[in-house]
Amino acid sequence: MPELIAPPTKETTEAQYPKVLKPLIDPVIDNLLKHSPEKLVELVNQHGSPLNLVWPHAFEANVQALQSVLKRHDVDYAIFYGAKANKSQCLLTAASASGIGTDVSSLFELQAALRAGTPAEHLCATGPAKTAAFHQVLLQGGSLICVDSLEEIGHLKALLDTSQPPAKARILLRYRPTSCPASRFGMGAKDLFQCLQHLVEQRESFHFEGFHFHLGGYGYETRVQAFREVTGFIDAAREMGLDPVMIDIGGGLPMRYVDPQDYNSFLQNDNNPGHYQNRRVPDSFYPYGSNLTVCQWLDLFLESDHSPGKTIAGYLKSQNIKLALEPGRSLVDQAAISVFRVTRTKQIADNKVVIFAEGSSFSACETWFSSEYLVDPILITSKESQPVPMQAYIAGHSCLDDDVITHRLINFDTTPQTGDLLIYANTAGYQMDLLENEFHRHPLPQRLMVTCCTDGNYAFTPDY
Ligand SMILES: Cc1ncc(COP(=O)(O)O)c(C=O)c1O
Repeated sequence: MPELIAPPTKETTEAQYPKVLKPLIDPVIDNLLKHSPEKLVELVNQHGSPLNLVWPHAFEANVQALQSVLKRHDVDYAIFYGAKANKSQCLLTAASASGIGTDVSSLFELQAALRAGTPAEHLCATGPAKTAAFHQVLLQGGSLICVDSLEEIGHLKALLDTSQPPAKARILLRYRPTSCPASRFGMGAKDLFQCLQHLVEQRESFHFEGFHFHLGGYGYETRVQAFREVTGFIDAAREMGLDPVMIDIGGGLPMRYVDPQDYNSFLQNDNNPGHYQNRRVPDSFYPYGSNLTVCQWLDLFLESDHSPGKTIAGYLKSQNIKLALEPGRSLVDQAAISVFRVTRTKQIADNKVVIFAEGSSFSACETWFSSEYLVDPILITSKESQPVPMQAYIAGHSCLDDDVITHRLINFDTTPQTGDLLIYANTAGYQMDLLENEFHRHPLPQRLMVTCCTDGNYAFTPDY
């Protein structure tokens, strides 16, 4: 009888990086993946799958990068972290530690930001549907309120008239730029002028600080145009005897998940129906391979012409106007990774392979927006496996047909095995646990804050 020779076994756990949409990764995080992948296996065994690891050092570096551009242009500025991007408490703490404010869109975000140590005066409240309870706390704390409508200013006035102790509302008026006339957010010129008239008449109730807008999309050009439009209202407000001091251009600053060249090559070569298990290419994607970094974007915005011979930076300085920004996604760039354990890989009809992950599409939510997360996962594997390249799509653990994490067929150098890990990098911005729930009574995934103690050593702490 021939002797059975066991195939070679891998002795160590290793990280296998994808080749098509390879994630850009912060070096500190990459160091953990490359040099201590077994630590991730241990953490998932301890805390369950999926597991979200949150990295405040990345957030703080992002703040510093934006600040360095603003300082270079010598403009007065305020940064409010758009807290809606992520539910992590430690990122709110990182905002507070960085000395920036927070943009809150609910009473609960406000309470969390206060708990993180941000003073109430450094909070800015956005959103069109603030409740009376939310308004009340904003008024008492002296937070900035972005007023979305004539109706909202009426509600604020009614609250102020009965407020005990008496309060004064610090407000920005939200402008609806001409590029989005049908938007439900903000006010057009007519309502804005009516608000300004109220403000002139009700100086005892309101402290008017300026204007705000927020646009969809990620182009700096649309912000330049909206900014120019707003400066007309600055002039008008001043002529009416008011003293606006701030223009808040909202969020929507871009971030880069993958190299732009890789991204363009993917769009050209690897994005046909045949690259998706459901043979359907989504209509739109976030621009994962943004041509501009966030700093280049901000530079271009500040260097753009406001008027002949005057840049936006020049306008801000000459008119003593503070530029406010509300970045959400771009401040949490690299601030989290999501770790999914593989339950099993299964061969199905039409020669397709599906990987079942312990977690769901609610834990990585782009498919719920009829889109896809165009960043390939990193495979952490310690099982014996021959390097046989294969393709698979990734499904969650529920029995819903729609519970698919990625319909896209992902290339792997080896077939993922039970117990292996799939690491999705850069999930802090609106990915991660945004839509998370307890479907099938699975407990909510845990978040751990990761801090670097000494080189190559990490501390993992529950992130409440
Ligand atoms: C008013 C406002 N500010 C800021 C943001 C944050 O945007 P982003 O995360 O794209 O920077 C949003 C997002 O919807 C918003 O509505």
